[in-house]
Amino acid sequence: MTSANPDTRAGYLSISALTKKYKNTPVAAVDRVSLKVDEGDFLALLGPSGCGKTTTLRMIAGLIEPTSGSIHVQGKDITKTPVHKRSIGMVFQNYALFPHLDVKSNVAYGLKMRHVPKTEIALRVQNVLDLVRLGHLADRRVTALSGGQQQRVALARAIVVNPQLFLMDEPLSNLDAKLRDAMRTEIRSIQRKMGITSVFVTHDQDEALTMADKIAVMSEGVLEQFGTPSDIFERPATRFVAEFVGQANLIDRVRVSSSAGRHLIEVPGAGHLSVPRISGEPAGTSTAMIRPHQLKARSASDSPDGIRGDVRSATYFGDTIQYEIQTGQNLLKVQMRADGSPTLAVGSVAAVTAATDNVHFIAA
Ligand SMILES: Nc1ncnc2c1ncn2[C@@H]1O[C@H](COP(=O)(O)OP(=O)(O)OP(=O)(O)O)[C@@H](O)[C@H]1O
Ligand SMILES: [Mg+2]
Repeated sequence: MTSANPDTRAGYLSISALTKKYKNTPVAAVDRVSLKVDEGDFLALLGPSGCGKTTTLRMIAGLIEPTSGSIHVQGKDITKTPVHKRSIGMVFQNYALFPHLDVKSNVAYGLKMRHVPKTEIALRVQNVLDLVRLGHLADRRVTALSGGQQQRVALARAIVVNPQLFLMDEPLSNLDAKLRDAMRTEIRSIQRKMGITSVFVTHDQDEALTMADKIAVMSEGVLEQFGTPSDIFERPATRFVAEFVGQANLIDRVRVSSSAGRHLIEVPGAGHLSVPRISGEPAGTSTAMIRPHQLKARSASDSPDGIRGDVRSATYFGDTIQYEIQTGQNLLKVQMRADGSPTLAVGSVAAVTAATDNVHFIAA
């Protein structure tokens, strides 16, 4: 037995109190991060630059030695296992392809290292190249490929060895917006087809929300929240998560009362928003989190309901319009569908109401 702690053995990949303190640095780059993902899951490590994503990924890969904590895969403690003895496929941000080799030799590399028989190598390389839709370019030099094609070679090279874990460090950051979108779908579909448990590093919230089964949001080395995309977006655990993942109106030290089966959320100096449900921790010291699309603004002269505020800005995004409305001390962001109804004029008075069934509260 490698570990007596049943907690670290559940889940396919389990990291427990994982910590890295680099030499001569005052604080830990990764500070007691614990999480578990199930077999076949796609985990996104999400957070701003410097929060410790790459360090975490490289510890899982075996490229960086943890200061403390443990990593288990399928119940086996691999914390001290050297990198070449781990079953890992990795894609780096700059792809790190071998420029002097053609596509199929790049992909075959890991299999050759493992002394797989030649005929089997040829077959597996062809299969995986077909999977990433590069079968027709097998003999091309990788230096004569587009960015997206190089990306696909890097994916193929990582997965051809059937690794236990597929690790990717910001693999889409060098691609233009359109290609990035296409590759998101492609990576996810390949990953699903192979059923391969994956960890994907990104600082892009949309990438994490659209691709991942589970998201770990990190800030300054600390795991702020671990959960499904809807946990993270709809029920953020901390102020940091609420603001990093999507836009949020945060109303501090909010008072909540009830009336006629509804909850009245006080917006200081402006009045109340009325909603049927609340979630999270609605204590008097907590913070109400309301996404811009969960608010509605109309001209105050058309609407007896709602809290009054001055329209400070109106920004047109094609399908939506975003307003900033000063209500008491809070400058509320309100996002409305651009459905043809007249835009509220900057300087006019608006009536703001809740356009959601539920307001989530974050503990102070
Ligand atoms: N070799 C090192 N020696 C000392 N400090 C390091 C080293 N590598 C990284 N760090 C520090 O550790 C912290 C986490 O770095 P890391 O590369 O894991 O962040 P990241 O989340 O991947 O950021 P980015 O999005 O910019 O890639 C940063 O403060 C960084 O400066
Ligand atoms: Mg990084």
